[in-house]
Amino acid sequence: MQTATSDRPRSAADTTPLDKFDVADPRLFQDDTIESYFARLRREDPVHYCAESRFGPYWSVTKYKDIMSVEINHKVFSSDVMLGGITVRDLPMEHRRPMFIQADPPKHDEQRKAVSPIVAPTNLARMESLIRSRTQEVLDSLPRNEVFDWVPKVSIELTTRMLATLFDFPFEDRHLLTWWSDVTTADVTAGGPIDSDEKRSAELMHCYAYFKRLFDERQALPPRNDLVSMLAHNPATANLPPMEFLGNVMLLIVGGNDTTRNSMSGGMLAMLQNPGEWKKLRESPSLVPNAVSEIIRWQTPISHMRRTAVADFELGGKSIRKGDKVVMWYLSGNRDEDSIERPHEFLVDRRNARQHLSFGFGIHRCVGNRLAELQLRILWEEILARFETIEQAGPEKRLFSNFVHGITSLPVRIPG
Ligand code: HEM
Repeated sequence: MQTATSDRPRSAADTTPLDKFDVADPRLFQDDTIESYFARLRREDPVHYCAESRFGPYWSVTKYKDIMSVEINHKVFSSDVMLGGITVRDLPMEHRRPMFIQADPPKHDEQRKAVSPIVAPTNLARMESLIRSRTQEVLDSLPRNEVFDWVPKVSIELTTRMLATLFDFPFEDRHLLTWWSDVTTADVTAGGPIDSDEKRSAELMHCYAYFKRLFDERQALPPRNDLVSMLAHNPATANLPPMEFLGNVMLLIVGGNDTTRNSMSGGMLAMLQNPGEWKKLRESPSLVPNAVSEIIRWQTPISHMRRTAVADFELGGKSIRKGDKVVMWYLSGNRDEDSIERPHEFLVDRRNARQHLSFGFGIHRCVGNRLAELQLRILWEEILARFETIEQAGPEKRLFSNFVHGITSLPVRIPG
């Protein structure tokens, strides 16, 4: 139940002056209070300027339609790594890695085309039975009547197996993919093992060495249907400088990992907190594809993408200047009351459920969106086929990050 605004106790989001708002503070995501700040920005200052923050000055774009304007105007809003790339934090120059998500046309388009065949409909159809048998195996191995953590046992295990398949990566070493993904996205102030950009770069050199060996092997073989072979045989990616090759590998690892993982965890949490929606799904399993889109909207696994203005632009009545940093908060756009009906409710039968912002829009729209939906559809079909109910057995824990909207732990119990 939503509490009427006037009945709610006043929170820090209500009392902090707008010019002191810094919605890129990772603590707001970890303690799950970020939506109260976004709600106020959507109401009072939808294109908001933060003059001072740990990340320097930046604009926050919080409404669905304004986010779309930024996405489609890619000639004004650049993703170029040398201008700062796609996250609110500017990495120090020596730690920046070019990759096609951090590039503008024509380079972006050429490199994106090199890997797109991995998600061609024929390839997805070919992968479906493998994804299903792995999902069945993982779900069948879960303990009954015992508390376990859904995140490592299901979400991480399934996404890591999938990633190993996409790269045709040695299966026994697949945990390295999860590690390199976590290394890439770690916030250096989170108190984890990657507490400096130097440590991150050093770890990623192991990733480079491993993938370079695979790349050389695949280049000597005829083209195959995996991402490394695609990079090795396409003229746009076959001869990249070492750090750009590493950049694209990092993109593909993170792209396919954190996002799907957190949709698997966020979807389970949403169902546990909305048992009526799980019941609806049990009674009408044909709703699963729709429920998958709703899960992806609800979780919004990537909180933001950033652009840099390369020309002046008017947005929502504000003057963005050439050189300004502009952050599109998908997490907020997906809760925009003016564009999404009843946005604060999780509804497996929502109309137009696929019209969310979680995959972005425009030329950078997620390459892997159909694959992610396929994995989640199969997961929920197999959950429904096995478990009448699952219980939450403790509070969830959330990631300290303003970029990956993640759940790090979700204790559950399967009665039986
Ligand atoms: C791009 C989200 C799954 C690979 C993106 C973008 C977002 C996103 C927000 C940037 C869009 C923009 O700037 O407009 C997600 C979500 C996923 C998911 C929420 C799961 C629920 C995947 C998977 C793969 C993947 C499974 C791997 C095969 C990529 C790549 C890009 C991308 C390569 C860069 C596209 C470009 O720059 O042209 N994704 N993603 N993603 N995603 Fe995903």
